[in-house]
Amino acid sequence: MFNIIGHCGGTAPDDASAFRRASVHRLLAALALTLCTAWPAFAWELVGDRIETQLTLRNPSAAHGREIVSSRQIGLCVLCHNVPIPEATQQGNVGPDLTGVGKRLSVPQLRARLVAPRQINPDSKMPSYLKVDGLNRVNPMMRGSAIFNEQQIEDVVAYLATLTDTP
Ligand code: HEC
Repeated sequence: MFNIIGHCGGTAPDDASAFRRASVHRLLAALALTLCTAWPAFAWELVGDRIETQLTLRNPSAAHGREIVSSRQIGLCVLCHNVPIPEATQQGNVGPDLTGVGKRLSVPQLRARLVAPRQINPDSKMPSYLKVDGLNRVNPMMRGSAIFNEQQIEDVVAYLATLTDTP
């Protein structure tokens, strides 16, 4: 394999340059392996009622999370929840009022509520918001509605964590 790489320049390499290329190649392979195993996307673990590890490397944006939560197109949270967002009209009460939820629940607990609601409570009416394979298992009520990527989950969690004022 390294011979092939060594010869692709057309002339036979001297030993030193073949060695250098082989070293670079090995370094790249090691880097790729590290990235694949350390990349956090999709690798979440529920411990008790918490998911401790942030799902993305980028910093979450609470402002973006607020937009998602208040939107009837993206989040649909207000279909079932009251949220302290005045411009989000016609809020629902199927789920608990989210005012003060940042005081009741920690960030790892909030993340777990969005990613794995049914692992926490098998009777949960909350849809899981993390996009997964096998979407045919999605609650029929939520079929066709938007499901979040990891960044959207983290943005919404960041917003919920700011809701520390109790009603
Ligand atoms: C189909 C209705 C429905 C939708 C849509 C929904 N939820 Fe829920 N949610 C519930 C219900 C019901 C509960 C109560 C516990 C349970 O059933 O798991 C709950 C519980 C929660 C909790 C825990 C609250 C607490 O005080 O323990 C959080 C946080 C939460 N939802 C956030 C959200 C967010 C954010 C969205 C939108 C991204 C959302 N929910 C969308 C129904 C819904």
